[in-house]
Amino acid sequence: MTATATHGPLAIHGGTPVRTAPFGGWPQWGEEEERALLGALRSGTWGSLDGTLVKRLEQEFAAFQGARYGVSCVNGTLALSVALKAVGVEPGDEVLVPPYTFIATASAALMIGAIPVFVDVDLETLLIDPERIDAAVTPRTRAIIPVHHAGSPADMDGVMAAAQRHDLRVIEDAAQAHGAAWRGTPVGAIGDVGTFSFQSSKAINAGEGGMMVTNDPAVEELLWSYRNVGRRKDGEWYEHVRLGWNLRLTEFQAAVLLEQMRRFPAQVAHRSESAAYLSSRLEAIPGVVPLRVPDGVTAHTWYSYHFRWLGEHDGGLPKLAFSAALKAEGIPNFHGYVPLNRNAAVRAEIARLGGPEPAACPAAERAADHEVIMLSLPILMGSRADLDQVADAITKVAAPRA
Ligand SMILES: Cc1ncc(COP(=O)(O)O)c(C=O)c1O
Repeated sequence: MTATATHGPLAIHGGTPVRTAPFGGWPQWGEEEERALLGALRSGTWGSLDGTLVKRLEQEFAAFQGARYGVSCVNGTLALSVALKAVGVEPGDEVLVPPYTFIATASAALMIGAIPVFVDVDLETLLIDPERIDAAVTPRTRAIIPVHHAGSPADMDGVMAAAQRHDLRVIEDAAQAHGAAWRGTPVGAIGDVGTFSFQSSKAINAGEGGMMVTNDPAVEELLWSYRNVGRRKDGEWYEHVRLGWNLRLTEFQAAVLLEQMRRFPAQVAHRSESAAYLSSRLEAIPGVVPLRVPDGVTAHTWYSYHFRWLGEHDGGLPKLAFSAALKAEGIPNFHGYVPLNRNAAVRAEIARLGGPEPAACPAAERAADHEVIMLSLPILMGSRADLDQVADAITKVAAPRA
């Protein structure tokens, strides 16, 4: 770190950027994926009904997440809708969700006619705050969807205790948290169902894809059936015992995913070191606070890295200007979600279904409006020199200026 790197004029004002090189791409692949894809092609069996690869993926992924059953599907959004249906959520039922998450957590409920009710997050972790669950429960509440945000498990002690108090089903949205664990239990295997995404930005991906895991054989039957046009496991081809979707994954996707799973442990080890190093550097910068990792987290898989910029409250750059200045220094970053309680499409659909108007969520709104900045997975996959440039650029943008 040189004084000019961190204290010269900001690049956004014409100064020299800290970095000009792009970060590495995502995903990573090699001969293993090429061989696996060709193998799937040459097998002549491209669909999962007769193939072996999707079935193997379901078994390996479930075992990896410590669950008895894995049921694959086309993406993480429909995995959530199917999971909600499989645990008995009906149109008009209320489902508790955090507001600081990807829209799918709420839209998956709305798409089956259920109503998301927002439970604010803890500003220090961006994870659902279990202390706020009781106040959101009504006689219509059926389920809760804790989101394991950015690779960090939510406080599952608090969530499971609240679920027990109010007889709620628990769907863990683990789209961003493959391999993460709470008190030694992998996410997805703690609640009734866990759902995962294999969309192209995800830590394990095949461009698109999803998975549901459960320990309950009755729930597994329903997940399988809703994913498989309402069929019955031992039924006839044209026997449909309920309405379902065709949400089957292809053998090509499974071929890639099985190989990506083998790369995953080394990648997580790398990202964990990156996150620890970044935190050690960022903690030394006045006004910059990395997110807190809850005590019960025994495996954080660092899908992305977030920090809070508190300088705006002290007359420093407003968050959006901070984010733009950091981009100009050559560090890609995101200013994060629009809290879902404020999303117009979500609000309109809740109103159309006759649900209660979403309440304000002060922590999520403060995070979104004033504080939280996100660095994505390719940065965490970078080298120590890359991370030093990230920290240098943040130091430069955070420095007080006359
Ligand atoms: C928290 C969360 N839930 C659900 C999803 C939906 O997954 P998919 O994009 O595979 O539909 C995502 C994907 O970005 C996500 O981040």
